Amino acid sequence: MKTITSSMLVATMICFMVGCSKAQRPADSSDHNLDGKNVLIVYLSRTKNTKAIAEIIQNQVGGKLVALELQKPYPENYQAIVDQVAKENAEGYLPPLKTKIDSLEKFDVIFIGFPTWGMQLPPPMKSFLSQHNLKGKTLIPFNTNAGYGIGSTFQTVKDLAPSGNILEGFSIQGGKERDGIFFVMEGEKEKLAKDDIKKWLQKIKITK
Ligand SMILES: Cc1cc2nc3c(=O)[nH]c(=O)nc-3n(C[C@H](O)[C@H](O)[C@H](O)COP(=O)(O)O)c2cc1C
Repeated sequence: MKTITSSMLVATMICFMVGCSKAQRPADSSDHNLDGKNVLIVYLSRTKNTKAIAEIIQNQVGGKLVALELQKPYPENYQAIVDQVAKENAEGYLPPLKTKIDSLEKFDVIFIGFPTWGMQLPPPMKSFLSQHNLKGKTLIPFNTNAGYGIGSTFQTVKDLAPSGNILEGFSIQGGKERDGIFFVMEGEKEKLAKDDIKKWLQKIKITK
């Protein structure tokens, strides 16, 4: 009788614990107060649209801004970079980064910014995510594109950082290098981007 009672007690305790964890809100809907947290904003940008978004995010939440650079930079010519990226994507090639981030482990929250390239996550960002352990970190993707959307980019962030806590990302139309439209994040467009970013940060409950 005594055994039954104690095993029932254990079972009840386990149920209680499981019940508690089920009752918790999913990570995405919880508050993310940045007070006392170390924030990193790491981004890739060629024609500076994603860079402008990274700077707006930094203005709104603070943090350390780091641009990803390659050991061997991509060609200036648009068609040449499109071809090279298509080849790298097809072969799964991860280009070596020149950028080294000191003590990545000290950052709690990492914003990850990139353009859409060939409807995919750009190879340098694949390199970054593949070479760091992002376990337990809050990861927040953001993107610019020429109007064709995020493609598989946000999904690839999830695939390459499966143990990170990934929040809902932000995306906005940037330049159209193919049509000779390079930097657009100025004037009215910049204002719109600032407003949209503010609303997005509120939605994902990022507070200072
Ligand atoms: C190699 C390459 C591939 C691109 N592929 C796409 C694409 O598949 N879809 C899209 O909407 N835009 C594409 N773009 C356009 C960029 O995503 C867009 O111009 C973005 O705003 C550039 O960001 P940046 O100024 O930070 O470099 C591509 C640009 C480059 C250079």
